[in-house]
Amino acid sequence: MGGLWLCLLILAALPGPAAPRETMRAKIWAQPPAPTEYHQLMLSCEVTGDRGPQEFLWEKEGSPVPLQRGPDSILLIPSFNNTHLGTYTCTATSTQGRAVTTYTLRINDLRSSVLVFPQESQTAHVQVTPELELPLDNFTVCLRSFSDLTRPYSLFSYATKKQSNEILLFKPKPGQYELVVGNKPLFFTVPISLGESEHVCFSWESSTGIVGFWFNGKPWPRKGLQKGYTVGVPAHIVLGQDQDSFGGGFDTQQSFVGEISSVYMWDMGISNSGVVSAMYDTPEQTPVFGWRNFPYKIVGEVYLKP
Ligand SMILES: *[C@@H]1O[C@H](CO)[C@@H](O)[C@H](O)[C@H]1NC(C)=O
Ligand SMILES: *[C@@H]1O[C@H](CO)[C@@H](O)[C@H](O)[C@H]1NC(C)=O
Repeated sequence: MGGLWLCLLILAALPGPAAPRETMRAKIWAQPPAPTEYHQLMLSCEVTGDRGPQEFLWEKEGSPVPLQRGPDSILLIPSFNNTHLGTYTCTATSTQGRAVTTYTLRINDLRSSVLVFPQESQTAHVQVTPELELPLDNFTVCLRSFSDLTRPYSLFSYATKKQSNEILLFKPKPGQYELVVGNKPLFFTVPISLGESEHVCFSWESSTGIVGFWFNGKPWPRKGLQKGYTVGVPAHIVLGQDQDSFGGGFDTQQSFVGEISSVYMWDMGISNSGVVSAMYDTPEQTPVFGWRNFPYKIVGEVYLKP
């Protein structure tokens, strides 16, 4: 046994030319990770283990001709639509060899599904993973929730490293919503409904600080907060838990139990008709993310159900 280890150690320590060369590998990644209809999408073919000159051949399954061939590792789709779905192959060639990789471009269409949060938890949540690159001067968040909790709970929590309560949609008690921008809260009173799901939209614009709130498609009186503020990035966005730190600091006593669906966010304001369209999952404006192609990661016990 000792002899074998010694032998392996000597092999591992052998210098220079005898050491095996790192194998050339390729990997495709998409940016943003979930494409939005009529927005730009980039597929990048990343090569490791080779620093020589490379040629990239892009092909798509079912397409008789190559999409692109040349030194460019990026395949740019200026305006993504359903015809772009499918399996892409990138073949990278250099003097050292060749690496081939594939990637399937899919849609996470959750339109007939809801996220079920089965029980109180300190960990279970859904992370939303959009590409948000620029700070926000305006935003709108809409979602539907269904719960019979009477204690406080968090629906939508947007944290940055600097501010864990950058954007928060919270229900302190039945009949009340709390909206937070940059750690400043605002409260809206709504009817107490038991046995019915509730659809809410919440918008904010920096130039006036005006906050819009819609309950089951109806506009509530506008109020305001945080005039002149800017919502920061990068963000960690969580459904079903309240972040007290970037990506964590959850409190069981504020965890959500029940169903969440039709989650949308825009980097702009919204009209009354836009709110109603979002309620029916047919948004008028292209969102940053939405239920028709939802970029998400389930952490712990949360289920996606019809
Ligand atoms: C989808 O995009 C392609 C260009 O990449 C375009 O030719 C086609 O008309 C578009 N289809 C729809 C339905 O918008
Ligand atoms: C935010 O909204 C205001 C008022 O609607 C508008 O004037 C401004 O251009 C918007 N900002 C961005 C970055 O879209």
